[in-house]
Amino acid sequence: MEANVLFWATSIMNFTYSFIYHFLQNSSKRLPFEIPEIRFVRAGVAIVHDQTTGPTTLKCSISRTYLIEERINESKDGFFKFINNGSAVPLDMTRKDARELSEFLAFTQHVQFYKTKGAVYLSDLQGSMQLLTDPQIMTSPLIGEGAEIFGDGNVPSAFNSFPEQHCCNHICRWFELPELAASVASDARSVISNS
Ligand SMILES: *[C@@H]1O[C@H](CO)[C@@H](O)[C@H](O)[C@H]1NC(C)=O
Ligand SMILES: *[C@@H]1O[C@H](CO)[C@@H](O)[C@H](O)[C@H]1NC(C)=O
Ligand SMILES: [Zn+2]
Repeated sequence: MEANVLFWATSIMNFTYSFIYHFLQNSSKRLPFEIPEIRFVRAGVAIVHDQTTGPTTLKCSISRTYLIEERINESKDGFFKFINNGSAVPLDMTRKDARELSEFLAFTQHVQFYKTKGAVYLSDLQGSMQLLTDPQIMTSPLIGEGAEIFGDGNVPSAFNSFPEQHCCNHICRWFELPELAASVASDARSVISNS
């Protein structure tokens, strides 16, 4: 489950950067700030098989399963909680660069929510200034009839309050994202039932 969450989070983040680069290519405005380069850690699942006592079928000989993640060197790069799970408000940061990154990440949430028509966004955003880890994928309660598709984190009240909680910052405005109205959430209903 954790590996799948990282896999999907990586894909949703790539999608977000595609939106950004596409917008930049088609815009004649000069970008007045830098776009941070941030991504999720690379990860894989490692399975340890018991060689001495295990029966011949592979499945039964599994003795341990690990999630292996690219290392974030906390003492060198620091470790920040940028945006809490279930909240659209970036946490208070004393470091300027971390505060700017948390604003960028709040903007990425807006992109995700807007471009998926209120179906999904990434939350619980934490890590260093280059690498994020252990996200939550927030999906609309309308998807899969409210089933926990990505494990923890599908708290319907948290998802539904996103449009109200999210405060557009200068990055949202530069990319001309429409203000999130509560009506966006109801868009998801038609998108999901049509697909
Ligand atoms: C983490 O960074 C510190 C400071 O640069 C360095 O001394 C240490 O060896 C690094 N640790 C790892 C595991 O790379
Ligand atoms: C936030 O994470 C905690 C711990 O995993 C969980 O108990 C809680 O339900 C989460 N809240 C939301 C809104 O996702
Ligand atoms: Zn916004």
